[in-house]
Amino acid sequence: MLLRRIGTGDNNDKGASGNAGNAATPSSNSAPTVREQEQKSVSRFDRTVVEQVSKQDKITYELKGKVQERLVAELERRKISPTEERQVRTITDDIFQEVLLETQGVTLSRAEKSLLLDVILAEILGYGPLEILLRDETVTEVMINGPKSVYVERKGKLVKSEVKFKDDQHLMRIIERIVSPIGRRVDESSPMVDARLPDGSRVNIIIPPLSLIGPVVTIRKFSKKPLTIEDLVRYGSLTTRIADFLRAAVLARMNIVVSGGTGSGKTTLLNVLSGFIPDDERIVTVENAAELQLRQDHVITLESKAANIEGKGEVTIRDLVINCLRMRPDRIVVGECRSGETLDMLQAMNTGHDGSLTTLHANSPKDALSRTETMCLMAGMDLPVRAIREQVASAVNMIVQQERLKDGSRKITSIAEVDGMEGDIIKLQEIFRFEQTGVDENGKIIGQLKPTGVQPRCVEKFEQHNIFLPPDTFGSASQLRAF
Ligand SMILES: Nc1ncnc2c1ncn2[C@@H]1O[C@H](COP(=O)(O)OP(=O)(O)O)[C@@H](O)[C@H]1O
Ligand SMILES: [Mg+2]
Repeated sequence: MLLRRIGTGDNNDKGASGNAGNAATPSSNSAPTVREQEQKSVSRFDRTVVEQVSKQDKITYELKGKVQERLVAELERRKISPTEERQVRTITDDIFQEVLLETQGVTLSRAEKSLLLDVILAEILGYGPLEILLRDETVTEVMINGPKSVYVERKGKLVKSEVKFKDDQHLMRIIERIVSPIGRRVDESSPMVDARLPDGSRVNIIIPPLSLIGPVVTIRKFSKKPLTIEDLVRYGSLTTRIADFLRAAVLARMNIVVSGGTGSGKTTLLNVLSGFIPDDERIVTVENAAELQLRQDHVITLESKAANIEGKGEVTIRDLVINCLRMRPDRIVVGECRSGETLDMLQAMNTGHDGSLTTLHANSPKDALSRTETMCLMAGMDLPVRAIREQVASAVNMIVQQERLKDGSRKITSIAEVDGMEGDIIKLQEIFRFEQTGVDENGKIIGQLKPTGVQPRCVEKFEQHNIFLPPDTFGSASQLRAF
């Protein structure tokens, strides 16, 4: 912030062009006028400022990083809670001086030093006691149940944290700092708000009178490094065989729905599946809060928008899905289908945008089908159920069920193929199913995703794409389907 203020390049630009506008326009072949020479020197001056600013920026960034690192270690060593604002301030000040002394080649005036210290403190104390949890990379979720009870999730396990807020007012001040930069407000008239931290973490806030235990804040931290397919295999969420199968399904342009409960790992799996999309395809992603982190270059990220305080300016997922069809996508990835957008998504899948991916909230592949149906009805098109089912049956090729098991692990528990209609019913054929074989001494569930023995229809599609999976992928005695 300090340095942004030094960045006066913009103003100089404006000043220069404003002056030029008043002068007679020089013809291109005449000698440079004084004005032009002035302009040149201004832009040279700009460049020097920019160079200085970026050098300063780098120094500030490095200093800040060092101070923060040492501070976290120091607070931990001295068992000081981050809520102790005064102590944190003093320690930060000491560390800052120490780091300044050690860092060579930095000469800051007294005013600059004090401003820089403020910037660092604001960052550290910005969200008060929350900062430490937000900074702790092993914490994936933070749950504040009133000022005195804070839980975090570490490695899939819920644990109570030492962090506490002084009282409701203290917590409300922090909430204020979260929501005000994004133009939202939390008070009695709007006691329920979704927000996002600058780093992308998602925040839900609900306060009294709706919550009876004081302000409640739930933060799903944005993981800087998304889990990869290798991570998921290592965590036992799936096997390499299944990973190969899913990669084949994406390459062969199957329309895939990832189904599961809240926090079961749907978005993570969607991200991994999207990662299998070849680099030469144009991908448009549509999300409520941008969470997907695709490694490909050609990705367009769209995010819906809530209405403002006057209730205006809302852009829904549905609006974005409809719009993205006009953007010549090769693949459409919708973060989550929750409502009427499902119908548009299915229509897209049915009209040449195959290979699209999405997630939805359901407890089994069968449940996912009926949820899809219900959500299509929410589009308010007055379509008969049979017509909707036909849409679903021809659009969705595969449903991957993701679950968070009792031991906290997240696994794929079923993969089913949609196999057309039989009368009025959509046929679903399970290809892989998780089989639990036991529980180890630490309470960890032991088991594996096993083929059901059915040879899926999609194999044909795989072969059209020149993808051949090992013959025993679907079980040694996989029964051939009668076509
Ligand atoms: N297979 C997995 N193994 C371990 N942790 C996972 C797995 N999938 C997701 N997670 C973690 O679980 C949390 C919730 O995942 P997310 O994909 O956002 O769930 P959902 O979209 O179903 O709500 C995240 O912190 C994520 O890093
Ligand atoms: Mg999600």
